[in-house]
Amino acid sequence: MDKLLITGGTRLNGVVRASGAKNAALPILAATLLTKELITIKNLPHLHDITTMLELLGSMGCGVVVDEKMSVQLDVSTLNNCEAPYELVKTMRASILVLGPLVSHFGRAVVSLPGGCAIGSRPVDLHLRGLEAMGAIISVEGGDIVASVDGRLKGARIFFDKVTVTGTENLLMAATLAEGQTVLENAAREPEVVDLAECLIAMGAKITGHGTDTIVIDGVEALHGTSYPVMPDRIETGTFLVAAAITGGKVRVIDTDVKSLEAVLSKLEEAGAKVTCGDSWIEVDMEGRRPKAVNISTAPYPAFPTDMQAQFVALNSVADGVARVIENIFENRFMHVDEMLRMGADIEVSGNTAIVRGRTSLKGAPVMATDLRASASLVLSALVAEGDTKIDRIYHIDRGYECIEEKFGSLGAKISRVLN
Ligand code: EPZ
Repeated sequence: MDKLLITGGTRLNGVVRASGAKNAALPILAATLLTKELITIKNLPHLHDITTMLELLGSMGCGVVVDEKMSVQLDVSTLNNCEAPYELVKTMRASILVLGPLVSHFGRAVVSLPGGCAIGSRPVDLHLRGLEAMGAIISVEGGDIVASVDGRLKGARIFFDKVTVTGTENLLMAATLAEGQTVLENAAREPEVVDLAECLIAMGAKITGHGTDTIVIDGVEALHGTSYPVMPDRIETGTFLVAAAITGGKVRVIDTDVKSLEAVLSKLEEAGAKVTCGDSWIEVDMEGRRPKAVNISTAPYPAFPTDMQAQFVALNSVADGVARVIENIFENRFMHVDEMLRMGADIEVSGNTAIVRGRTSLKGAPVMATDLRASASLVLSALVAEGDTKIDRIYHIDRGYECIEEKFGSLGAKISRVLN
């Protein structure tokens, strides 16, 4: 298994470009199932999860043509089955996103029920309940979700008991071809949901309210093809900005989405970073200072994103002061902590709260990645630790960060991939 070898102690300095957002690309690729016309999606990140989604669409009989710039043209007119098999779904839970489009456009879907994952049980009950409210017949047979509808889904008013990003996305997609109006209440407001809605509108969908907690969709008979660029990745952007803050350096992220990281930028300023923004770039300059401890409490957008929690635990582990980090979204999203303790961090976890007492330094050590964002936080810790850190199981990182060693290397980090 590949490993990353990092020698800490370098202040990062330079410019890096944000890749396309994984969590916008995945629902948008699923949305291509809603039309039989040719459709092109651009600015896709070169990530394992994207490859898996393209494999899944290909396994259904869709034509998939990828160019060297990671633009993909999809032809769903050749689709010959509506199944998302376990061997693909078990590697990527986001496969559940094909459920809504398949039922809505083809009247049938068999999608393996995603199991839990490292960060939590990750149920999909809200997805299924919403589709049933729209007239789908749903059963779970042998670990598969079997969903069908005679004719078209019917518009419905759906209230989400919990804010769910992919739940909102699944039902938003399903509603575009349903008969009548659908209202999604307590909907997710994440920028990736907005990006999906904008792509659907470019395909001819009638959607208003995206980006608020109430989304209204008026179903249409058919959607047409389009050419749509995926938004930049705000979590990758935030990760590079935290890398500047943790190493006392200066990093500018270009071709990124400036308005979707307010909660993160405000926490970076509270930690003592100088944050400046342009039309499509964000810069953090720590001017050699040690970060100040900052309290974090994760919540749905526009509040502080759970996908940035591990990165701020890393920042707090070398900050001046004591920080309280509360994880309100997932029940088991502190697995990075045990690995950071191996590097000398002083962190105590009780329930969904971590108390982080900042140390003046961490020590490099062999550590293991456990899930995508946790592994990014290990990279950040290793960048500031004394000595060498070897990170194992970095396939977790490759799922969400494109060319991570090249990008960090271009900022001056001493980082290399050890193949074996
Ligand atoms: C999306 O996951 C993201 N994944 C996650 O990013 C992100 O952490 C999460 O949203 C929260 O922002 C993609 O977009 C592909 P949820 P999702 O449904 O949609 C509960 C990453 O690192 N819930 O918003 O699966 C659930 O258990 C990944 O890129 C139900 O109870 O998350 C959780 O506690 C990790 N029933 C809460 O809601 C449901 O039917 C929020 O989950 C659905 C969700």
